[in-house]
Parts: sequence; C-alpha cells; structure tokens
Amino acid sequence: MIAARSARPGARVVAVDGVRGAEAVPNAALAPAIDSSDEWIRSRTGIVTRARAGAGVSMLDLAEAAGRRAIERAGLEPAQIEAVILGSVTHFSQTPAAAPALAERLGARGAAAFDISAACAGYCYGIGLADALVRSGGAEHVLVVGADKLSEFVDPADRSISFLLGDGAGAAVVAGSDRPRIGPTVWGSDGAKARHVGQDIDFREAVATGVWPTLRQDGPTVYKWAVFEMAKVALEAIAAAGLTPDQIEVFVPHQANLRIIEQQVKRIGLGLDVIVAKDIVETGNTSAASVPLAIERLGRERPGLGGKLALQIGFGAGLAYAAQVVELPPAPAGQTIHQPNN
Ligand SMILES: CC(C)(COP(=O)(O)OP(=O)(O)OC[C@H]1O[C@@H](n2cnc3c(N)ncnc32)[C@H](O)[C@@H]1OP(=O)(O)O)[C@@H](O)C(=O)NCCC(=O)NCCS
Repeated sequence: MIAARSARPGARVVAVDGVRGAEAVPNAALAPAIDSSDEWIRSRTGIVTRARAGAGVSMLDLAEAAGRRAIERAGLEPAQIEAVILGSVTHFSQTPAAAPALAERLGARGAAAFDISAACAGYCYGIGLADALVRSGGAEHVLVVGADKLSEFVDPADRSISFLLGDGAGAAVVAGSDRPRIGPTVWGSDGAKARHVGQDIDFREAVATGVWPTLRQDGPTVYKWAVFEMAKVALEAIAAAGLTPDQIEVFVPHQANLRIIEQQVKRIGLGLDVIVAKDIVETGNTSAASVPLAIERLGRERPGLGGKLALQIGFGAGLAYAAQVVELPPAPAGQTIHQPNN
C-alpha cells in the first residue's frame, strides 16, 4: 500500500510584502506619444503614476527583494521554504524557469521551484496552489511570488495597454493552520478570448522580423469581461468560503483600472464600509505583482487589518482568472516601501 502524507486542517497566509520599481512615471511623461493627456488617463483608468524599475533591475531582482522581505516578515529562515512558486510573464527564457534561480538567490536551496504563466492571475493561482500543497502535506512553507517588469515589453506609441503598466513584485508565505484561513480557490480560463490581451507577436516572429514583442489588448472587450464575468467569479469565491458579500471586509482586486474596481464593488454587492485596495493610482498595473502589492500598501496605510476577511481576485491574459477569500496576515510594522537601486 502506498503511504500518504497526513493532511492539515487548513492553510494561512503568514506574511505579504513587496517592492515597486523606483521611478514614479507620471501620465504627462507618456501622454504625448499616444495623443492622450494626464486628464484622460486619470479619468479613464485612475492612474496618476506607474512604478517603473531602471535598466539595471531585472524581474528576478524584484522577485528576490519581495521574497526576502516576505520570508523575514514571516519570521522564517529561507531554508525553511520548501516550495517556491513564481508567477511571471516577463522572464526572458522559455527554460530554465526563473523560480529555481530565485530559490537559490533567497537561500531556499533545494526547494521545489516552478514558474506559472497566468499573467495578472498569477499570484492568486499561486495562492490556490500553495493552499492545496500545504493542506495536503506536500510542503510546510510555500513562498508565492508575483513579479513582473512590464516596462521591458511596453511600446511607448501604443494606446491600448502600455501606458497602464508598471514594474514590481509581491510575495506571500503560506503555512499550515489549525483551520482554513484561505478559502477555496475559484479559478478558470477562457481561451476563446486569448487574442484579446497578451504579447502581440511570438518569439519566432520577433527573430524573423527583428521587432521586439510588446503587449496589446482590446481594452473595451477585456473591460466588460473584467466587470461582468469577474464579479460572478468573485461571488462564487465568497460562496465557496461559506460567506456572504456582507461579511467581506477588504476587497483586493487585480489593479487593472480604477473604473473596473468600482464597477466590481457594485456588482458583487460589497458594503460601503468595505476597504477597497486602490494601489493602481500610484503603481499602475503590475500584472502578477498587483494583488500582493495592493495588500502590502493596505498593510502599511491601514494598521489593524490582520485577521480581516479579504476577497482577492486576479484576472488577465489567457484569459485566466482566480479568486479566493483569505484572512489577512498581521500588518507590517511601520515599514517604508523598499525599492531596489536602479
Ligand atoms: C484600455 C482602457 C483604459 C481604454 O478605456 P476605454 O474607456 O475602454 O476607451 P475606448 O477604447 O472605449 O475608447 C474611448 C475613446 O478614447 C480614445 N482612446 C483610447 N485609448 C486612448 C488613450 N490611451 N488616450 C486617449 N484616448 C484614448 C478612443 O480613441 C476613443 O475615442 P472616440 O470616442 O473618439 O472614438 C480600458 O478599456 C481598460 O482599462 N480595459 C481593460 C484593461 C484591463 O483590465 N486589462 C486586463 C489585462 S491586465
């Protein structure tokens, strides 16, 4: 008979932390190249600045800084991390994955380590996987990192998505718990809509044409999907956790567009007293990093959120999505934003 590891009753997010690109790029710096304006970008997206990292900082540098801080905040030694899950779409190699190098850099030598390509859903996919791993006894401590340096894929002349994008990394440590403190993950994909957001040309075309790939989207289509379909997914995640919308205390959606966030709040039926993450205003859309960075900001700006019930949802290219309700970890103790040097 095959022996199985004993399962745990639940898993929890022990700590979340993150880092942003050091430069706050204002709308005015991007608007002329796309015949836009600070006013248009603010009113249509909510974005005032986006965080971008300098040429000397890589996606892996951001991931390492975020991972190190999350492990420290969890009170662990890196060697205690048994699995490293990295969500990213801005790693330059098809293989090897970036996660083993990240584990090595962090001192989590020997940890299971793999990348997931779920774009803006990457972090919430990772939390779902970490929850399952920990509960099944597959790992004691899992590090989930969402990291993207999107500025390396922007086209300054593109009006569809480039002006939204920033750089950053967010990380969480997931560990066992006496009861579930991470709700069931409601996740999925809609590959029929794959062409609506993502890389414009694949690397074969890039080599053949000598043109560097960039990102493009059909904004209005993605907007409607994000508002209507993702509100349904959010409601499913709340129900799967055995809760009702009035019990949600904090809402941390993917930071894609402030208008999407406001529409989702209404469609999910969240109360006026729910704390809504709006990191997009200063950070922009950082893809896989967006949800953990939004949590990191809430932790700094609103002490006392530890233990509160937060609904988090990631969605984007694929199209891929994932949502779950989590108990927020204790707030950071008065830290300032750490930004790797340029
Ligand atoms: C990209 C996005 C901000 C565009 O906003 P929008 O309100 O949908 O804008 P539309 O594309 O409908 O265009 C409305 C008008 O603004 C213009 N416009 C479009 N992009 C513009 C820009 N960057 N600057 C100035 N004007 C712009 C259009 O030409 C159009 O003008 P018209 O009315 O004269 O024809 C929005 O669609 C969006 O946020 N989409 C979803 C993003 C998302 O969630 N992505 C997820 C992947 S991470």
